[in-house]
Amino acid sequence: MKVLVTGGLGYIGSHTCVELSKKYSVVIADNLINSKIEVLERLNSIAHSRVIFEKIDLRNKKEVAFLFEKHGDITGIIHFAALKAVGESVEKPLLYYENNINSLLNILEQVQQLNSEINFIFSSSCTVYGEPLNLPITEEEPIKKAYSPYGETKQICENIISSSSKLNMNLKSISLRYFNPIGAHESAAIGELPLGKPQNLIPYITQTVAGLREELTIFGNDYNTPDGTCIRDYIHVTDLANAHIKAFEYLIEKEFSTNEVFNIGTGKGTSVMEIIKSFQDCTGKKVNYKIGKRREGDVDATFAENNKALDTLSWSPKYSLEQALKSAWNWEKNYRKLNNE
Ligand code: NAD
Ligand code: WQD
Repeated sequence: MKVLVTGGLGYIGSHTCVELSKKYSVVIADNLINSKIEVLERLNSIAHSRVIFEKIDLRNKKEVAFLFEKHGDITGIIHFAALKAVGESVEKPLLYYENNINSLLNILEQVQQLNSEINFIFSSSCTVYGEPLNLPITEEEPIKKAYSPYGETKQICENIISSSSKLNMNLKSISLRYFNPIGAHESAAIGELPLGKPQNLIPYITQTVAGLREELTIFGNDYNTPDGTCIRDYIHVTDLANAHIKAFEYLIEKEFSTNEVFNIGTGKGTSVMEIIKSFQDCTGKKVNYKIGKRREGDVDATFAENNKALDTLSWSPKYSLEQALKSAWNWEKNYRKLNNE
């Protein structure tokens, strides 16, 4: 079976392609707007079968039509391609609406013209919940007004997929709402590769320890949490990658068109201070940090209730937080060719 992976050279996409390649043939469509072509070689060095790459801008209808003409024999689509920087989306909302929504529309337009069944998985985010009313967050948590245009694109895309699934009997779909993916493949051949200054906590930590950044700023220690720093649900990217395979296999087994959502997290919350301590303990490296001001839009705590995915998809996270943090550091070291064990 052939699976189309949009955004497959990105962080989560590349890890998912490695897992997919154990059983499926994989075609990646990516325009490299937030990834590097060198990832393809790195990915193929650990893939179980060679993945094919198509340089396609999904905003471009003609390019998407070409993609589907060439690979009309796909049975699945995992749609990762999107812009994802929350702060940038506030400054450039049109870019985010255009990229994230038009890419999806162009793909679904082609899906509609196929006469075969498509199992479709969408990269959604815990950001769709905004500030949660209840913890842990279940899939029943009400969807509130999004904090950012980025978050709003995820809400809109989920709705578009749901309406399309109702009309197109060939379309079976799942939106996976990821919590905070971290870490890297155990080979350290691929990992998170932010272009420019990292926005997320873990790459900021690894780049600080690697000497690329002077110090980490903890965004506030006056939150309503035991140590005052924000709590998040950090999940190893390989566990997240495997959730896509489980979701895909679940859809294949479904007889009729369906549209479902699942939280993908560990179910455990960890504070920023706890992350720093665990990182130091499991790598033996000191993290330079200072306490700074709160970052706009951050909420005290988010972590998942993941029972729906555990029970329905027969998926469960396998890696510990320490393994995830260690793998993130191994990747950073390997990528920067650091030799400072
Ligand atoms: P990423 O930026 O590393 O990967 C996204 C890939 O999509 C990149 O390779 C980029 O070049 C490509 N892309 C973007 N727009 C494109 C377009 N118009 N045409 C073709 N390719 C395009 O991001 P990631 O962290 O791997 O995230 C993957 C998905 O998961 C995104 O949809 C993101 O919103 C979602 N998500 C990410 C996180 C996270 O913390 N990383 C959390 C929740 C959800
Ligand atoms: C984690 C914690 C920060 C950087 C983001 C998106 C969300 C989803 C997942 C896509 C927070 C703190 C961070 C730093 C810090 N992505 N922090 N100093 O904000 O939970 O979620 O990624 O869908 O939509 O918002 O992740 O890694 O940015 O932050 O203190 O330099 O680390 O305040 O508490 P976040 P993050």
